[in-house]
Amino acid sequence: MKWYPVDGVTPNGEPFIKKVKVAGKSICIVGYEGGLFALGATCPHAREDLSSGWCADGKLVCPYHRFSYDLQTGKGSPGQNDYVECYPVKVKGKEVYVGIESFFDKLKQALK
Ligand code: FES
Repeated sequence: MKWYPVDGVTPNGEPFIKKVKVAGKSICIVGYEGGLFALGATCPHAREDLSSGWCADGKLVCPYHRFSYDLQTGKGSPGQNDYVECYPVKVKGKEVYVGIESFFDKLKQALK
């Protein structure tokens, strides 16, 4: 896994949702109830932008049809049968980093 710095995000305990581009991926960085989360920014339901949604009950809610995704796992709410990609986040000093596995990392794990 490679850790990528995220520009323009300085967590200060306030809630926020910010869309960033990291390693060619559109990712929502979410500050919610003291935690930091990173999820894919495209809603799998109809490809809308999750960064214009909001958080409720530990989930990121899509503004279009209100499907919701768990901030920790990316799993869709019951009945949706979908998910968004979820990425690990770490903070070093004032820098925020998102961990992204390459295709080869995933392949190596699958072959173990
Ligand atoms: S596009 Fe997100 S819920 Fe439909």
